[in-house]
Amino acid sequence: MTPEAIGLIKASHAQATATPRQLADGFYEHLFAAEPSLRRLFPHDLTLLEGHFEAALALVVRNLDEMSALRESLRDLGAQHVHWGARPEDYVTAREALIAAIGGLVPSWDATLERHWRGAVTAIIVPMLEGAAVHTAMAAEGLASERVSPCDEGVSGPPGKRSPATRRW
Ligand code: HEM
Repeated sequence: MTPEAIGLIKASHAQATATPRQLADGFYEHLFAAEPSLRRLFPHDLTLLEGHFEAALALVVRNLDEMSALRESLRDLGAQHVHWGARPEDYVTAREALIAAIGGLVPSWDATLERHWRGAVTAIIVPMLEGAAVHTAMAAEGLASERVSPCDEGVSGPPGKRSPATRRW
């Protein structure tokens, strides 16, 4: 991502988040309009989650010039999302919902900003999906080793019940 693109994203993010929770409100509205079945995965009261979501996004935007520093945390976040029921295809829905929400709050929104934001949000969801995939692969590996070594049964507990990655967000 070029310094110019990062500058444009930071400026538009500041506009979109001038009023707390407005962006998250718009995000969840677009998300549930696009895929109503996702609503049941979330708590009834979204207030707390909206704060967490905006804080996570702000952290990413602050670190856009060094996204590799956030890769592990984003992978952990993706692993947690497996437990919350997020499917790979939902990430694309979420990306488009976030772009639509930002677009509705930024007066200077245009095709260039949209392209930069799509790139930035893709850079968030790719490591999240990688984390989800690794988490799922490890669960499969645990089950497979349980199947081939019945003598070890019970030593480490059922693999599917391991705690999700440590929360950092
Ligand atoms: C742009 C991608 C996404 C980002 C940045 C993101 C970020 C977050 C954050 C920061 C939290 C709060 C974590 C915490 O409290 O520790 C969260 C929770 C959650 N997210 Fe996401 N998320 C994304 C995509 C998705 C998708 C695609 C789904 C699909 C269903 C989803 C479903 C959830 C659910 C169900 C929760 C937990 C609600 C609860 O507290 O019970 N997220 N997300």
